[in-house]
Amino acid sequence: MQSIELGKTGEKLSEIGLGTWMLSSNEQMEIEALRTGFDSGINFVDTAEMYGTEPIVGKAVAGREGLFVATKVSPTHFRYDDVIRACDSSLRRLGIKAIDLYQLHWPNKNVPIEETMRAMEKLVEDGKIRHIGVSNFSAGELQEAQAALKKNEVVSDQVEYSIVVREVERDLLAYCKKQRVSIIAYSPLVHGRLFDSKYAPLAALLSKIGRRYGKTAAQVAINWLICKSNVIPIPKASSKDHVKELVGSTGWRLKSHDLSELDSFLSSYRRRPLSRFVKPALNSHPAVTRVLTWLGSLHAKK
Ligand SMILES: NC(=O)c1ccc[n+]([C@@H]2O[C@H](COP(=O)([O-])OP(=O)(O)OC[C@H]3O[C@@H](n4cnc5c(N)ncnc54)[C@H](OP(=O)(O)O)[C@@H]3O)[C@@H](O)[C@H]2O)c1
Repeated sequence: MQSIELGKTGEKLSEIGLGTWMLSSNEQMEIEALRTGFDSGINFVDTAEMYGTEPIVGKAVAGREGLFVATKVSPTHFRYDDVIRACDSSLRRLGIKAIDLYQLHWPNKNVPIEETMRAMEKLVEDGKIRHIGVSNFSAGELQEAQAALKKNEVVSDQVEYSIVVREVERDLLAYCKKQRVSIIAYSPLVHGRLFDSKYAPLAALLSKIGRRYGKTAAQVAINWLICKSNVIPIPKASSKDHVKELVGSTGWRLKSHDLSELDSFLSSYRRRPLSRFVKPALNSHPAVTRVLTWLGSLHAKK
């Protein structure tokens, strides 16, 4: 498997990492799935204190060398002492001596970023974490986070990015490329919804293109992200078969005419006010559904 540098750190990560949010309840199957990925050359695994999957990741990485473990501190723990405590707890749950990448899970405007970053730098100094990252930070928030660090750099921003959800392309992608901050792309399979009937035309095109390479729709969707330089997708899979399929999305590249075919197909949707892709994705989020229902009821009262 080819590798990609994390930020400017010199750390070589596999082209994809493995996500672990909402693993199913079959712990043994999940550990085997993660280990299948490691055995196939994936060296990067992502978790968070919030996911409750640090113990499973800990068991999967136990006794293995050369893996790169990323986790996240929750925004409710951004006060100095809380960051230190949260890190100690994550280290204990993961059963490792140092976290390779410790990420601020979401921005929290209620705690000065300087205070949080002071704690993050203390953790680096104490050898408890090796690199500092952020998640769900805009380009502006990333700049603030960077400015709050005295001796270290923010090496990555973990954000939602897939062939369907492309908000990051507004400015963050270009900003991170220029600054050599890696984009870690979460929900690269749209949380599994890429295979719902509402995305059928896109899935059909992905399958059609995939046939030219002997690849599946999922592999093409992940490879589309790999083809953007500086982006490391972290799909989640709970079965060995899914992990093996994901491994098949690495080690090759979509040709430029296939990327163009996908881009022109996708831009025909983007020209619509609320694209056929984005709207169902938004509608399926419970909070958005509630707001839309409320707006609808206001409209009905008029
Ligand atoms: N920083 C953040 O705020 C944030 C937010 C969300 C996610 N994340 C991270 O990003 C990771 C990935 O995102 P995600 O879990 O939301 O969604 P995802 O990776 O886009 O999709 C996961 C879904 O795709 C399915 N899948 C995996 N491989 C497949 C294949 N080859 N063919 C068909 N379906 C396949 C999985 O099924 P099975 O489970 O049955 O294999 C699962 O239902 C998370 O696990 C987490 O680590 C971070």
